[in-house]
Amino acid sequence: MSYLNTTIDVYKDAALNPNVGLCCTTTPVWQLPGLEVPKKMLEMNYGCGSTVNPRDLVNNPSILYVGVGGGMELLQFAYFSRRQGAVIGVDVVDEMMDACRENLLEAEQKNEWFKADFVEIRTGNALDLPVPDSSVDIAAQNCLFNIFETEDLKKALREMYRVLKPRGRLIMSDPTCEQPMNPALRNDDRLRALCLTGSLPLQDYIKMITEVGFGTVEIRAKRPYRLLAPGHYPTEELIYIESVEVCAIKDPMPADGPCVFTGKTAIYYGSEAYFDDQKGHVLNQNMPLAVCDKTAAALAALGRADLFISPSTWFYDGGGCC
Ligand SMILES: C[S@@+](CC[C@H](N)C(=O)[O-])C[C@H]1O[C@@H](n2cnc3c(N)ncnc32)[C@H](O)[C@@H]1O
Repeated sequence: MSYLNTTIDVYKDAALNPNVGLCCTTTPVWQLPGLEVPKKMLEMNYGCGSTVNPRDLVNNPSILYVGVGGGMELLQFAYFSRRQGAVIGVDVVDEMMDACRENLLEAEQKNEWFKADFVEIRTGNALDLPVPDSSVDIAAQNCLFNIFETEDLKKALREMYRVLKPRGRLIMSDPTCEQPMNPALRNDDRLRALCLTGSLPLQDYIKMITEVGFGTVEIRAKRPYRLLAPGHYPTEELIYIESVEVCAIKDPMPADGPCVFTGKTAIYYGSEAYFDDQKGHVLNQNMPLAVCDKTAAALAALGRADLFISPSTWFYDGGGCC
């Protein structure tokens, strides 16, 4: 049986028997005025971060959400869009879609602003989305793509790119891991399906996103996620897993490569009012300017004694140059 079938079995079980600790995140659940999330949705929060950010959700966007879980993020997205069919949820597991639909009906009872038909649930696979080309403003997934092996991950990312409109946003949360994992971990289909052993180093994950064509990537958050400890898992070393929140924008690819923002800032502290690198970056004296990693490296390479480049904060969701 392939790992994709094991994944379906794992989430069939997670739909029938809600498991609070299944993915487990330290990201706080959104508290928004007038939003009441049903208890079962909270119990079925199988994400590893949040993909909902009000900054992305102005101008009534249409939203595709792949891997519906208990429906909590579908409800949160609908909070911002509030119109019939504005949010499309896609999943391959019938039992998960049934649980999600039931939870959305309960949410309708608890939230006077919400109608269950704001969300359309479609049967479909992340590897072959039942969604037309260039049709959505936001495409999101939370804690699903890390499960995919490399070729499937490429397919899933290409599908998200295909369905997004130009300048649309891919928003994802996934575990990442900087340590190599041994074959016993990597080849354990159940641990992979549980979002524990499929994760990539962050730079590899970013590279896969930019290779499908996204011209801009923002790393919005990076948090501790799980440990795989000897004695508990088939490993002799302690493995530390983080979870990241990432937004990739379908802008044209710059000629000199993608702009990846990891939270670096440039500050000019010389004696002039400003420093202009003549490449589109003007730094006012002692004012931080958010820069992408490419620009940070170019500014650092100037070797000036009056330019400071901060380390990555792994917390960036807007503003800056490029
Ligand atoms: C880890 S859960 C995350 C659920 C939800 N995103 C959340 O944050 O609570 C993974 C979800 O992806 C679904 N799924 C698994 N394989 C899939 C596939 N190939 N295509 C689409 N959905 C899939 C599962 O049924 C489940 O709903």
